[in-house]
Amino acid sequence: MKNKRILLGITGSAAAFKGVMLASMLRKEGFEIDGVLTPGALHFVSETQLACVTGKPVHSSLFTMQPGDPVPHITLTDNIDLYIVVPATADFIGKSANGLADDLLSCAFLACSSPVIMAPSMNTRMWSNSATADNIETLKSRGVVIAGPVTGPLACGGEGMGRMMEPDGILKLCLSILSGKC
Ligand SMILES: Cc1cc2nc3c(=O)[nH]c(=O)nc-3n(C[C@H](O)[C@H](O)[C@H](O)COP(=O)(O)O)c2cc1C
Repeated sequence: MKNKRILLGITGSAAAFKGVMLASMLRKEGFEIDGVLTPGALHFVSETQLACVTGKPVHSSLFTMQPGDPVPHITLTDNIDLYIVVPATADFIGKSANGLADDLLSCAFLACSSPVIMAPSMNTRMWSNSATADNIETLKSRGVVIAGPVTGPLACGGEGMGRMMEPDGILKLCLSILSGKC
């Protein structure tokens, strides 16, 4: 599966470091990874950290272009094989379900025509909120693959539903989708 291109987005969750771990695992599989961080993600991980594992510049702003430069959310999604958001916050899920596009990653979501995987990560009460549940159903009905979440220890303390699926499970899902098995 060499030469496949993946856009990997990370949003502002306590599990953001696991998005960097997944980027490293995907690169070891031979994929070309374009990393995108939301403004929220920058509170948890850095562009430099993600660039170290992808081997490419990382993008976090919609408005960095100079006259004549390509439009980033369009070029980043041209001919990609997979778009993944790991972890996906309640905020990002809500924006995606409602067609909102106020940062690079959400604009790229609307512009992308490849398979999409989102791996939610959030507190149990946020996950159980009917707004989140409705947003998840909307995304699923449009073909977005929702990976997890699972029950387990949470960053906010305690245990419950909302913990992000572990990167090795998401890697297996990516490989299945890219090989056309699901
Ligand atoms: C310490 C901390 C951890 C957070 N973890 C999560 C999380 O796991 N899931 C979530 O949906 N929001 C979480 N949030 C809230 C998001 O960071 C917030 O909604 C932010 O606006 C998300 O921005 P983004 O979706 O554009 O990345 C957390 C906030 C803080 C302060």
